[in-house]
Amino acid sequence: MNKTITPSTYVRCLNVGLIRQLADFIDPQEGWKKLAVDIKKPSGDSRYNQFHIRRFEGLLQTGKSPTSELLFDWGTTNCTVGDLVDLLVRNEFLAPARLLLPVNFADNVPEIVHVLPQEEIATQKKLPPLYDKEKTHVKPVFIQNHEQMSSPRDSSSLGMKSLEVSDTCFQSFSFYELKSVTNNFDENPMSAGGNKMGEGGFGVVYRGYINNRTVAVKKLTTMADICTEELKQQFDQEIKIMAKCQHENLVELLGFSSDGDNFCLVYVYMPNGSLLDRLSCLDDTVPLSWHTRCKIAQGTANGIYYLHANHHVHRDIKSANILLDEDFIPKISDFGLARTSEKFNQTVMTSRIVGTTAYMAPEALRGEITPKSDVYSFGVVLLEIITGLPAVDEQREPQLLISERKSKMKKSILKIMLMQK
Ligand SMILES: Nc1ncnc2c1ncn2[C@@H]1O[C@H](COP(=O)(O)OP(=O)(O)OP(=O)(O)O)[C@@H](O)[C@H]1O
Ligand SMILES: [Mg+2]
Repeated sequence: MNKTITPSTYVRCLNVGLIRQLADFIDPQEGWKKLAVDIKKPSGDSRYNQFHIRRFEGLLQTGKSPTSELLFDWGTTNCTVGDLVDLLVRNEFLAPARLLLPVNFADNVPEIVHVLPQEEIATQKKLPPLYDKEKTHVKPVFIQNHEQMSSPRDSSSLGMKSLEVSDTCFQSFSFYELKSVTNNFDENPMSAGGNKMGEGGFGVVYRGYINNRTVAVKKLTTMADICTEELKQQFDQEIKIMAKCQHENLVELLGFSSDGDNFCLVYVYMPNGSLLDRLSCLDDTVPLSWHTRCKIAQGTANGIYYLHANHHVHRDIKSANILLDEDFIPKISDFGLARTSEKFNQTVMTSRIVGTTAYMAPEALRGEITPKSDVYSFGVVLLEIITGLPAVDEQREPQLLISERKSKMKKSILKIMLMQK
């Protein structure tokens, strides 16, 4: 159907199905309003005034799509698909623009989101940038606004206030774009040809393709003990920290979507998955060599050191949050729980205890926030790397790889290792 569409095709000749598809991209978050105010008469004046816009808005109550009505109306002026694509690109509606003129887009508009079939995705050793457009990189900085160490009991107000999500250099996607690049958030596991890569405490991670590049899309979801507001806080925190901290051993965030109640984060894809999965040889992967294990331990330590040097406490260091790239270089992920402070060596108290119990230092379990707890968690990861055993196993006695007393811990590990033989 799209093959017959050229830049000179009249918008009024587009079929209703295609108009509906365009509307699916543009209706959310009143995107159509952006377009309406940008449509000009030949005289250069705006075609639609506030009265017209209210009339389109009124259509929502009747269940109609304002975008479709706008396009039908504008179409009566004999505007062309070329005009429409220009309008869409000017207003950063790239996915619907490509829907209209996919071929032109491959050549002329590099920012467009491409949805490619799996077979076309080449192995990506050296990844091209997501968009040709230069990103304004925010250099890692020492934080200016800080948690108030003097008000010790609540961490909900902690974190960076200086940087708004909208100020960051990350690509902003619509939820619909991310839905389309992940094959409608296909829930089937990748091993069964689907897109689901994994699931954690805050959402599901899917493989997606954007501009010939494989990405990981994490769709955050509210769980029993996490409300939308809290999820949004974590989402903002992740973006703010990723904007400030870039390091070889931290995962790279590429973009996000935040329309409506849907929060998604788009990361560089890590072909070797998580350290947890590689230590357990999930999907029959070969065990990691000692050389690789040492490199992973060293890289993770470097990443944590960098975070601490930049006054951040991660608070959820664990092998599931250490991802491995194509060369098994470790990348620390998940900064939604991280906290920032200037008076870094002082301990902050929080009433909201977060983290993964098997990795948490006793003081973290009591609600203290200190960089030392990350070091403790890293110690648990080191034990996992050395022993190849999970940090917690409910079928095992003792269940935890680490226990509070050193002598008891040594005995536990020895006992567990002997039982493995
Ligand atoms: N960028 C990525 N590239 C490849 N795989 C990824 C990426 N991000 C996440 N994954 C996979 O998805 C899984 C789930 O990640 P997620 O962060 O949602 O959960 P988790 O780390 O197990 O728990 P938590 O929610 O506590 O962080 C990971 O364990 C990993 O296998
Ligand atoms: Mg994680």
